[in-house]
Amino acid sequence: MKKLGLILLMVGVSLVAAEQKVDGEKVFEKVCASCHIKMITKEETKKIFDTVKAPPMVEVSNQLKNNIKIVDDIDDDIHRAVVIAFIKDYVIYPHMDKAMCEAMALEKFDLMPSLKGKLSEEELNAVSAWVYDFYVGKKF
Ligand code: HEC
Repeated sequence: MKKLGLILLMVGVSLVAAEQKVDGEKVFEKVCASCHIKMITKEETKKIFDTVKAPPMVEVSNQLKNNIKIVDDIDDDIHRAVVIAFIKDYVIYPHMDKAMCEAMALEKFDLMPSLKGKLSEEELNAVSAWVYDFYVGKKF
């Protein structure tokens, strides 16, 4: 467990270093927003559900924060690093077995296509951190 903490901390540190160069929000607008709505309420989503291509990003961010639990008293920074690491991995290697969407959502949407080769390492770091940070305190 200690070792895991250390690795995650290192992931966190390298993220902080990479984050500063690229604006994660711009990457989101460019690469993710064509499928993921940035901000919307659950009620609004229901109204336009037929045209929605992917779960809204506000929902994705909240779900990941709630679902990714390692130990009860996990340090906030480590939790953040783990959620960001999950996003980074998912964008490149999406898989049904990893998906944390509700089963109903997965039935409606196909699996996310991999964005491998479409993002630089820095863009990937920045957008993954942005997905975590932007939605802190914003509910779906
Ligand atoms: C071509 C459409 C498309 C694009 C572009 C896209 N996604 Fe997705 N994404 C999806 C769909 C559909 C799902 C729901 C199915 C799934 O989980 O694979 C999803 C799910 C996700 C999930 C949730 C995984 C889970 O736990 O279920 C994350 C995280 C995610 N996307 C991040 C991103 C990020 C970050 C970007 C931009 C860098 C992005 N996506 C771009 C279609 C897209």
